[in-house]
Amino acid sequence: MQLAVLGTGMVGETIASALSARGHAVMMGSRARDNPKALAWAAGRARASTGTFADAARHGEILFNCTLGSATLEALRLAGEAALADKILVDVANPLDFSKGMPPTLTICNTDSLGEQVQRAFPRLKVVKGLNTMRCDLMVRPSLVPGDHDVLLCGNDSGAKTRVATLLHEDLGWKRQNIRDLGDITAARGTEMLLPVWLRVWGMLKHPNFNFRIVVGDAPTA
Ligand SMILES: NC(=O)c1ccc[n+]([C@@H]2O[C@H](COP(=O)([O-])OP(=O)(O)OC[C@H]3O[C@@H](n4cnc5c(N)ncnc54)[C@H](OP(=O)(O)O)[C@@H]3O)[C@@H](O)[C@H]2O)c1
Repeated sequence: MQLAVLGTGMVGETIASALSARGHAVMMGSRARDNPKALAWAAGRARASTGTFADAARHGEILFNCTLGSATLEALRLAGEAALADKILVDVANPLDFSKGMPPTLTICNTDSLGEQVQRAFPRLKVVKGLNTMRCDLMVRPSLVPGDHDVLLCGNDSGAKTRVATLLHEDLGWKRQNIRDLGDITAARGTEMLLPVWLRVWGMLKHPNFNFRIVVGDAPTA
């Protein structure tokens, strides 16, 4: 499949590498066509290419948004509405502000989310929020954490969520029962607001190889 990763940071590189290793034709997009990190990533890799955000958006059937949360809307504007129309975008970004040091704060929360802002700004884009609640190594290698643990998806287009779930299962190793559909894109408020909890658990464990898991009991009887 033709896939695109928007972003040249550690998340973009991790996701692009995993999808490329599965044989997909992956383009990594950034602001500049000659971005050195993107060029280094693509060098020597089969079916790997680089380009601008717009090039990458045109290339991919499914796009992964791995840009800085505070710059995501700008990156997508650079990709352009026409290139994004009718594409599926897995929004991995979190709206974190590190400018005042650690821990970062959420720049959008409670009554809105980055996922919703992206969906509102690009109504024809099929935004699927997902993978943002864990460290990037785990996104592409769930076996780093033993047993069952969950990846949380949400979005307005059920067909897009089904395609993303299939890719997560077939290419990244997620068990079907651990891919949880939380409903429409407003659920991104909750999944983005998990980040402060994630950061505290990371501080407690002092390493990032953990994840959230929904444990379900019997429904209460009336
Ligand atoms: N680290 C993790 O394990 C983890 C886990 C879950 C979610 N996330 C989220 O994943 C996203 C990516 O994280 P990261 O650490 O890999 O990368 P990052 O440093 O947060 O973002 C790098 C990307 O953002 C783009 N960017 C920066 N400023 C920009 C601007 N003004 N306009 C347009 N684009 C701009 C860069 O473009 P250029 O390529 O042109 O420089 C680059 O591609 C973040 O939103 C993060 O919160 C991270």
